[in-house]
Amino acid sequence: MDLRKHTITPKQRAVIEQNIITRVLGYQPFIFADDLEVGAGQHFIQEIKHTRLLHWPTHDPRVSDVLTDDVDLFRQSNARLREVYERFMDFMVEQLGDIRGLSFAEVGCNTGYFLFGLALRGARRCLGYDFSPGYELFQALNDILGTRCEFHFADWDSLQHRLNYNPLPEVDVAMSIAVTCHLADPIHHLAYLCDHSRKAVFLWCPIRDENRLCLYFDTPGKLTRQLAWPLSFDQDVRFSVPLLRMCLEQAGFEDIRELSCPASLPPEWQTWFSGQRGYLAYRTRDIRTALTPEGGKRTRDIPPAAYAHVPGLPRQVPFLVKSHHSYNIVQMHDKFYAIDRVLGAMDLTKAETLSSLARRRDGRCFITKTLAEAEGLVDWFLESRKMPPAAVLERVSA
Ligand SMILES: C[S@@+](CC[C@H](N)C(=O)[O-])C[C@H]1O[C@@H](n2cnc3c(N)ncnc32)[C@H](O)[C@@H]1O
Repeated sequence: MDLRKHTITPKQRAVIEQNIITRVLGYQPFIFADDLEVGAGQHFIQEIKHTRLLHWPTHDPRVSDVLTDDVDLFRQSNARLREVYERFMDFMVEQLGDIRGLSFAEVGCNTGYFLFGLALRGARRCLGYDFSPGYELFQALNDILGTRCEFHFADWDSLQHRLNYNPLPEVDVAMSIAVTCHLADPIHHLAYLCDHSRKAVFLWCPIRDENRLCLYFDTPGKLTRQLAWPLSFDQDVRFSVPLLRMCLEQAGFEDIRELSCPASLPPEWQTWFSGQRGYLAYRTRDIRTALTPEGGKRTRDIPPAAYAHVPGLPRQVPFLVKSHHSYNIVQMHDKFYAIDRVLGAMDLTKAETLSSLARRRDGRCFITKTLAEAEGLVDWFLESRKMPPAAVLERVSA
């Protein structure tokens, strides 16, 4: 983003410089003035460490390690990167149409490049989340650009699979751009993003060139020191395309539109672009994943035979559904049990678990999935006047 056509006050410039010094600004390609430009374009194209992120002739000595050694290449590379990044937002607008009614949220927003870009294109609300604090910078950029983007400190928690400190609200479009490559749990991150998006999700991430479902982790040259293993496994994590698509589809986003590479990019940038994928995926089903309480079952049922042996479980009391002559049908855990002899009401309320019940009935209580099956089983007991043979047991528990 080129801010040279905007007025930047000395106070705003001081905020920008301070954010460069604290290493918050540097990654995304902003031109603030002829003598102040940041961006990782040169780093990306030369595949060098993050040491060529800044052009600032009168620089503060604390950032001399990140100054570019080749101003022309630095500027050209960042212009290419801006071309790619602007394409992301143009693509979203092309696909989504009028974005004036839409809210966007980006997890791992960094210095807000995409949020400011969307706000300038008319988005109703733009929310940014990152563990790198951007409060003052967002305020300064909002003042310069006349936007109202919001920054929220948040830390994606790969243990609990959620955003700590500031959970994501439901928005029209949630975005994650070059973030899954840093996460030990990228599948859960995508599911979280999908669960909080009403309309679509936008993703951009490095991919592993594989036709199978796979997640690739590079050999960790660095493990983040702030977190313990395995949360520290942040090393070039890549989805294969089939897995990425599957994650979207399973979360209810089956209309997947791929971002194409801008034709204007020179060959080395086309190669760089081809190592990643960008998708805008539209919600096609109103479902949620297991990450949210509405997302359906999160834990398996405990098999009745194991229930009594698992410490700390709440007492499960079966209740009587129906009595047929000398047979009872009781229900527990959404399942029905046909029992061979009448148990008194006291007996039933005292029974703690199915297995204790089964013990008291000499193992003769039979599980069915539906009440109709339980009734069929009882009819069979009554008709044949004997307990069911193995074949019947198999049929009812299948
Ligand atoms: C490679 S940068 C991408 C930034 C931006 N989305 C873009 O593409 O320009 C990754 C961003 O994700 C943020 N990030 C990484 N892990 C995070 C986490 N666990 N919680 C919050 N933010 C995280 C970093 O602070 C950084 O701003």
